[in-house]
Amino acid sequence: MKKPLVIGHRGAAAYAPENTMASFQKALTLGAGGIEIDVQMTKDGRLVICHDETVDRTTDGSGAIQALTLKEIQMLDAGSWFSENFRGEKIPVLEELLDFLRGRDILLNIELKNGIVLYRGLEEKVLEALRIYHMEHYTILSSFNHYSLLRLKELNPRIKTGVLYVAGLVEPWEYARRIGADALHPIYYSVLPEIVTGAQVHQMPIYTYTVNEMKDLERIFSLGVAGIITDYPDRGKIAADKV
Ligand code: G3P
Ligand code: CA
Repeated sequence: MKKPLVIGHRGAAAYAPENTMASFQKALTLGAGGIEIDVQMTKDGRLVICHDETVDRTTDGSGAIQALTLKEIQMLDAGSWFSENFRGEKIPVLEELLDFLRGRDILLNIELKNGIVLYRGLEEKVLEALRIYHMEHYTILSSFNHYSLLRLKELNPRIKTGVLYVAGLVEPWEYARRIGADALHPIYYSVLPEIVTGAQVHQMPIYTYTVNEMKDLERIFSLGVAGIITDYPDRGKIAADKV
């Protein structure tokens, strides 16, 4: 059986401030084969890597990303809330990570955060950045906003998309096919054996989030998923190596 892929959630969010370059570097050091990130858009239309719609929780500043310019955002400290050792980390622009990953065999999972704030043109901008950095083949785009996934496919039918959801989709592989998606990204506790079997029969890979505890990692891997998203890439690797 092919070894499942271990994808670092927001980098290696258990060990470094989430969605910073330090976190992405740490994920690779711990052996992750992929990195999951969240993108939002600034007031001046730049793509930045941040989970929340505001900078309040993960920086020393405050305010909505859509109301701040890139210059204002880059003045913020995105490391010290996590630990003083990371003071000076910044909210990265997407291009910085694309440049860092270019030429490496690492899967990039970009989650488009356009559920709470609807960013106009987010899909176009993400695709354009991937094109410029020749990263389309190393990337899967996911979102809880499935209209966004449809839009991405409309703009570029070759780009890979993953359906993010919590639970409760009946025959999720059928739904994914209907919207042209390439993978399922369910929350880990909704991943039952019959879901994995059904997805396998229909050749729909499952990348499940956010699996952090060893017992959950072992259960999920024993079912035969394609990959997991975790704050602990090191634990993920240990569990994956047992498969
Ligand atoms: O992409 C999986 C996972 O990151 C989705 O939830 O809230 O951590 O972005 P969240
Ligand atoms: Ca995410």
